[in-house]
Amino acid sequence: MDHLHMTHEQACKLAPIEEPARQEFFMERCRELLNAHMAQYGMERCSFHIETFGCQMNSRDSEKLTGILEQIGFTQVDTEDADFVLYNTCTVRENANLRVYGRLGQLGARKKKHPEMMIALCGCMMQEPEVVEKLKKSYRFVDLIFGTHNIFQLAELLSVCFGQKKMVVEVWEGTDKIVENLPVERKYPFKSGVNIMFGCNNFCSYCIVPYVRGRERSRNPEAIIDEIRRLAADGVVEVMLLGQNVNSYGKTLEHPISFAELLRRVEQVEGIRRIRFMTSHPKDLSDELIEVMRESKKICPHLHLPLQSGSSRILKVMNRRYTKEQYLELAGKIKAAVPGIALTTDIIVGFPGETEEDFLETMDVVEKVGFDSAFTFIYSKRTGTPAAAMEDQVPEAVVKDRFDRLLKLVQDTGAKVSGREEHTVQEVLVEEINDHDSRLVTGRLGNNTVVHFPGDASLIGKIVKVSLDEFKGFYYMGTAVTEER
Ligand code: SAH
Ligand code: SF4
Ligand code: F3S
Repeated sequence: MDHLHMTHEQACKLAPIEEPARQEFFMERCRELLNAHMAQYGMERCSFHIETFGCQMNSRDSEKLTGILEQIGFTQVDTEDADFVLYNTCTVRENANLRVYGRLGQLGARKKKHPEMMIALCGCMMQEPEVVEKLKKSYRFVDLIFGTHNIFQLAELLSVCFGQKKMVVEVWEGTDKIVENLPVERKYPFKSGVNIMFGCNNFCSYCIVPYVRGRERSRNPEAIIDEIRRLAADGVVEVMLLGQNVNSYGKTLEHPISFAELLRRVEQVEGIRRIRFMTSHPKDLSDELIEVMRESKKICPHLHLPLQSGSSRILKVMNRRYTKEQYLELAGKIKAAVPGIALTTDIIVGFPGETEEDFLETMDVVEKVGFDSAFTFIYSKRTGTPAAAMEDQVPEAVVKDRFDRLLKLVQDTGAKVSGREEHTVQEVLVEEINDHDSRLVTGRLGNNTVVHFPGDASLIGKIVKVSLDEFKGFYYMGTAVTEER
């Protein structure tokens, strides 16, 4: 069939209804349209660049978008100096949001000189109607806007863009659909994220994620295991199971299955040597999960367990559904079951109504648990969330002061606890050549601590035994040990 002489409406009539066949049809169509586009502008290749903001969900989505674009025939490049630039956006805090507008302004200036270039925006910000309105009004040069539920549709949407100069906007409010088996292009050959669920039902009162990612949907375990088998066959040794709250995985499936049971099945996949997961909500963390972690040979001794606040009063208003005492008890239980486990966390400072006493409760939990590291965030008001309407927002200067004190405590605690493996030999999965010194390689322990040691590119993707000679505050310097026979 000849796509060049077919309108989008005609193509839509011809396209299969079922997925992923429909998207395969549109990838083929885009390939022909892209070739025509390149011929028209005398281009040898058409390059693309995806800039990813936000969390691992977005990183994984970007790998899916990359897979689709490469299948169409675009060539990936590292900088925004590309023929097609796509921003995969985040809106969890306001500054994530502002960064996108700043960058977009610069991109618009470049497009004035290169009118043939295409600009697309997708991701969490696009799920907010005010954002799309603003883009339509003040950023007319954007060619394509789509939402978090439309990622799989990139080829279909792009084929509309090739045919017209108008801005194409497609943002679904929600979906119950999970499209399997579309192309994916991994950033790292040896490790990969694997979505096990999408969306979130928790509605923590400060958080915008449930509004922009929709209701919780779990993938079928068979689809997950199939994907992990294929990844293992393709050289992947480490998988990171992804969900906003992995501990509630599987509850809404036709044949319900627990997250712990899913982990048992992942453990069986040959070739996978390390299993990680992100994120665990404390309220749903089961004893069964702790047991599976204790028994497993592959699940990494690392748990990211977001605290958000140490004050039971604030936790209640945050709608987190656990208390300070419950959190401490849980952390204690996990540490006892998995000795040497690294605990990391997320903490918000300056939630509406947070008093000095509330804040000191947070400091107290940090001291008592001894986190290896913590992401600390200044509370950011997100329109549409219950917390945004709460009175007594904490003054900026007070928040700043608390933030600095917390950061210092977090760093000091991390420096104390995460050196626990100094002078031992541990397995390191080598990830890359060191950024600053090309004679070194950089990798991670199972508990996620970074290790640098002398080595070369041939080690990338390998698990190497390394003697951890010196702990430097938040990373180790080491030397590889050759195994004795
Ligand atoms: N699903 C994960 C978190 C996803 S968002 C969980 O429940 O743990 C990542 C982190 O961003 C959160 O843990 C929280 O600490 C932070 N965050 C979310 N909304 C925020 C807001 N409005 N202001 C500041 N930090 C926020
Ligand atoms: Fe946001 Fe809470 Fe859901 Fe995490 S669990 S994504 S913090 S609403
Ligand atoms: Fe940001 Fe969306 Fe992730 S808002 S943190 S990219 S789910």
